[in-house]
Amino acid sequence: MTTDMRHAIVDVLETADAVAMRMAELFIRTVKEKAEGKARIALSGGSTPKKLFTILARPDMAGQVDWSRVELFYGDERYVAEGHADSNHASARELLLSRVSIPAGQVHPMPTATTAAEDAARYQGTLQKSYGATELEPGRPLFDLVMLGLGTDGHTASLFPGEPVLDEKTAWVGVAAPSTAPHERLTLTYPAIASSALVVFLVTGENKVPMLARLRQGDGSIPSGRIVSEGKILILADRAAAGELS
Ligand code: 6PG
Repeated sequence: MTTDMRHAIVDVLETADAVAMRMAELFIRTVKEKAEGKARIALSGGSTPKKLFTILARPDMAGQVDWSRVELFYGDERYVAEGHADSNHASARELLLSRVSIPAGQVHPMPTATTAAEDAARYQGTLQKSYGATELEPGRPLFDLVMLGLGTDGHTASLFPGEPVLDEKTAWVGVAAPSTAPHERLTLTYPAIASSALVVFLVTGENKVPMLARLRQGDGSIPSGRIVSEGKILILADRAAAGELS
């Protein structure tokens, strides 16, 4: 079964806080329902997930997660020094990872220490080691949950318009050098994201109205519109992004 964006489930919630809370509940459920082994989860970047991280770090929420059964990865990373203010990992570490009992060896930041191409290959090796194979096997998803954001130019992860990585069919991790956003980046590719049991887009704010409308139509002319999943795709949006503010 492959789900494309035209068949995504859309849940419009009142506020950005409600979106973050619903995502936190889904995160908790994903780990609880993981039958055996660790739940492999890819975190999204940017500012939207910050509310989620803050909610998940709350003792009443973090206490519902068996962190020993969680393995965290990233959907993308800005190619900046470790700890840089624009680093997605630095943000997740500050708001969530430093506040919960996930074993350090189960958090996999994207490396940014050599060259983007070398570090992309290195991260692919990390994913393959966790997955236990070098080829993605249909029916055995790499990720139990992939969280994605939506850019105002229609990008997701760091799959930006016009980037060669959009055409990547085999590598699991690629490089992007967008003209519409700062920094070179590492990103999961379409095949890696497709190897998932559940993809959840988090989309909030009025500035996302045009692209959310195109995403919901499965508009393949924007990178996010081309996302598919072996499992399900859910869009969690607030009313502002859905254009439903009176
Ligand atoms: C990144 C993200 C990117 C982000 C969107 C939305 O590293 O920038 O992964 O895909 O999700 O640009 O960003 P906001 O959440 O800040 O609107």
